[in-house]
Amino acid sequence: MGALYNDRLESYRQEIEEALFSYLPIPEEAPQKTVYEVMNYACVGGGKRLRPVLVMEFCRLCGESPAKAIPFACAIEMVHSYSLIHDDLPCMDNSPLRRGRPSAHAAYGEDMALLAGDGLLTRAFEVMLAEENQRELPPQRVLRAAFALADAAGAGGMVGGQVIDLQSEGKSIDLPALETLQRGKTAALLMAACEMGCHIGGGGEAEIAAARRFGEELGLCFQIVDDILDVTSTPEELGKPVGNDEKSRKVTYVSLLGREKALQLAAERTEKAVDALQVFGEPGKALRSLARALLQRSC
Ligand code: IPE
Ligand code: IPE
Ligand code: MG
Ligand code: MG
Ligand code: MG
Repeated sequence: MGALYNDRLESYRQEIEEALFSYLPIPEEAPQKTVYEVMNYACVGGGKRLRPVLVMEFCRLCGESPAKAIPFACAIEMVHSYSLIHDDLPCMDNSPLRRGRPSAHAAYGEDMALLAGDGLLTRAFEVMLAEENQRELPPQRVLRAAFALADAAGAGGMVGGQVIDLQSEGKSIDLPALETLQRGKTAALLMAACEMGCHIGGGGEAEIAAARRFGEELGLCFQIVDDILDVTSTPEELGKPVGNDEKSRKVTYVSLLGREKALQLAAERTEKAVDALQVFGEPGKALRSLARALLQRSC
């Protein structure tokens, strides 16, 4: 992820990779071994790790050691990975490729994929609420971070956005409706990542509000670029199929505005995201660069 992350963010990414591996072991012998295997398959070794990197960096910006945020960073990546498993299922986007390999249901069957998604969602909360976190951090921080994730992942956030996404297939929805959809399915979790980092870091209300604004703008841009890549990229580069949105008759920023205008809108919103970082001053530099780099990303 050299092009996206500076050295510090890249080192977070590596720490997250190792921590996810240890949080998602595959037991040698257990009657339900398969579900552990699929959870590991879908979450370990792949993906940009954007949400957990944001958790760690906002924790640092609020004055706490980013290492303290690792369980929370891994938790949001587990929730994100579960959302991808379910998103790829035949009853949703019916997508056979994810992170450069067969999606979970293509490799293990729909039943195991569904259950591995459930397992990851639940494991996320187990990892965050583990007793040692409540010993090492003020319990209030732990609870606020866990609440932010629960709030963002559910029917009022990611799940709700996915519902609107599916129910809008083949329909003509307008720009505000599309924004509501994408705010839920994508921006909610990115906002939560930024907010969780502030909670763990002990940030104050001004920091939390700024982080949420940054995450929301970044999330909306992120989905616009995802929609653009669906028409401009290749499966080799993206690690997932292209052309799926058109095939499923999804309304996207590209279908509503065209590629150029969609990118322009994403660029404008990226600058809004960058503006939101003012309260963090000079130390917010890495996130400013990250926001701009995400606009140019190729996967
Ligand atoms: C893909 O998210 C799904 C969207 C919300 C657009 P990412 O692009 O962050 O996927 P990974 O984690 O890098 O695979
Ligand atoms: C998925 O959006 C968002 C979530 C998984 C919550 P997409 O359906 O556009 O994501 P990709 O393109 O399959 O990664
Ligand atoms: Mg989808
Ligand atoms: Mg999809
Ligand atoms: Mg997409």
